[in-house]
Amino acid sequence: MSTTVSRRAVIGASRALLAGVALGALPRSGAAQRPPSPAFASRGIRLAGNENPYGPGPAARAAIEAAVPDSWKYPIFEEMALKALIAEREGLTPRHVLIGDGSSEILHIAALLAGSGGGELVTPTPTFSIVADHVRAIGGSVREVPLDAGMRHDLKAMRAAVSPATRLVYVCNPNNPTGTLVSGTELREFIAALPGNISVLVDEAYLELASDMSEHSMVDRVRAGDNIIVARTFSKLHGLAGLRIGYALARPDLIERMAKLKLVAASSLGLAAASASYTDLQFQAMSRKNLAAGVAITTAALDELMLPYAPTRANFVFFDTRQPAAAFMAAMRERGFALGRPYPQYPSWCRVSMGTVEQMRLFADALRAHYAA
Ligand SMILES: Cc1ncc(COP(=O)(O)O)c(C=O)c1O
Repeated sequence: MSTTVSRRAVIGASRALLAGVALGALPRSGAAQRPPSPAFASRGIRLAGNENPYGPGPAARAAIEAAVPDSWKYPIFEEMALKALIAEREGLTPRHVLIGDGSSEILHIAALLAGSGGGELVTPTPTFSIVADHVRAIGGSVREVPLDAGMRHDLKAMRAAVSPATRLVYVCNPNNPTGTLVSGTELREFIAALPGNISVLVDEAYLELASDMSEHSMVDRVRAGDNIIVARTFSKLHGLAGLRIGYALARPDLIERMAKLKLVAASSLGLAAASASYTDLQFQAMSRKNLAAGVAITTAALDELMLPYAPTRANFVFFDTRQPAAAFMAAMRERGFALGRPYPQYPSWCRVSMGTVEQMRLFADALRAHYAA
């Protein structure tokens, strides 16, 4: 190999590396398809990704260590074990469960089913946008329905937006970025009124953070055999975002169709961690409690400063900064906090994800200082 060739190869490799760095090492999800939020690359306290900074829990850490020696094997049994655990708790069978590379993969697959051949998606806006982004990317169409005045899904308007071309309706409950919830009762009525050939994708990424989850989860509609996909993740309550494990719950015929579109299998360490975390109820309770304490600290500071916020049921708070959100975020970055991206529909509103209780105390102090300055 000549020096020129190897030098060129080195330059090419470092360019590729730099391109990766410029993307801010984002998770391999829909977020990576958008211009990166500076928050992800920033060195400040990270309050941007709706993660759980208490994770991984002790059982998950021990399971990761224990899984290392066997990680030369393809993780067939580990995947079966996780499916069995989930199915048992949900009153379903393993054939009702599909494990994804994060729930992002589940959302991508649902988008593929909906958008291929020009199918239509009905989605609220703003919401977690990877489903809409993916449907558009493959040539499908998207009908966006603004949230209602309470920043909740406007189910009536979403029902009205359904057309003969609609294949999928996306429901994000609680919604990202607002944290708002539509009740299980409202959602069951909404689903019952839709034509049976339309699939409903209910993204419950944040529902596990709520103590009354079973009341609002649509898993009972999966048990009943409705045309519905429930998406869940180990990235939020379980604090395993870097290990990329999520899952779908749906009728076995739907799961089979989705499984054919899977791109990659989950990793053995991720699966081991997820199984251990799933049964670590103590860690889950501790996480719920501390993330809720963070929300209480944040909303108390917002109340004090008379800044409006959406009623959140998740591990983030969406609030009105009363100034352009981008300027507010830049000011907070100066104070050492990395926040999420601006949302064009609400130009003065900002989403803050929960860090540890201590970090949220620091954030509340920084908020007070920012508005006192
Ligand atoms: C509503 C919602 N769904 C799904 C995801 C994807 O999570 P993951 O791919 O890490 O499971 C996120 C991540 O932020 C989210 O906010």
